[in-house]
Amino acid sequence: MPSVKIAPSILAADFSKMGYEVERLTENGADIIHCDVMDGSFVPPITFGAQMVKSIRPLTSLPLDCHLMVNHPETQIDGFIKAGADNISVHAEACGKGLVSLMREIQAHGAKASAVINPETPVEALFDAVEVADMLLVMSVHPGWGGQKFIPETLEKLKKLRAFCVKNGKADLDIQVDGGVTEDNVGEIIAAGANVIVAGSTVFRAADMRAVITKLRTA
Ligand code: DX5
Ligand code: ZN
Repeated sequence: MPSVKIAPSILAADFSKMGYEVERLTENGADIIHCDVMDGSFVPPITFGAQMVKSIRPLTSLPLDCHLMVNHPETQIDGFIKAGADNISVHAEACGKGLVSLMREIQAHGAKASAVINPETPVEALFDAVEVADMLLVMSVHPGWGGQKFIPETLEKLKKLRAFCVKNGKADLDIQVDGGVTEDNVGEIIAAGANVIVAGSTVFRAADMRAVITKLRTA
């Protein structure tokens, strides 16, 4: 299994101090910065777009992982890559049959490409993407809001997905989990096969950010 990486979500940050928050994550041992992009259509809330990514890009050398919870993600790729995104994750539900070709397009433009599924989407919807993906993301809450409770059925999906990857010669593929991760459940989540751990509330609510990031990584 690939090494465990912690990807705090800036959705849980103080938006009035975003530069400071990104620097704080960088200094406190985060591995990746997870940027939750919401369009008010694929999910009800609106967060931010490529302009935010462009603004924080000079403030950190960490990879910027952009999770696009948007309809018509194909219209956004160019803007996020120009803004400095390292990875772009697109939802299977927003892409339909175009998932794999959009991922190839993202890669052709020089970024990493990942495929995401919502809790109600069967894990098999990711199988076609395994060959091309730089990472796979299994949502463990309904997308749109931070601070929700981890959906336990996600563990079975992670196990199935890791087993499929191993069987198909992709044992080292990054599998990300997003939503409701805490210090208490991260151990079983990693045991189930996830290795890239998104955490919003758990990281930003902690009194000691460095300690919680270390604890999540070494659980
Ligand atoms: C949900 C987002 C998640 C969310 C995670 O739509 O994709 O990244 O911010 O937040 P927590 O860790 O608070 O569940
Ligand atoms: Zn996310």
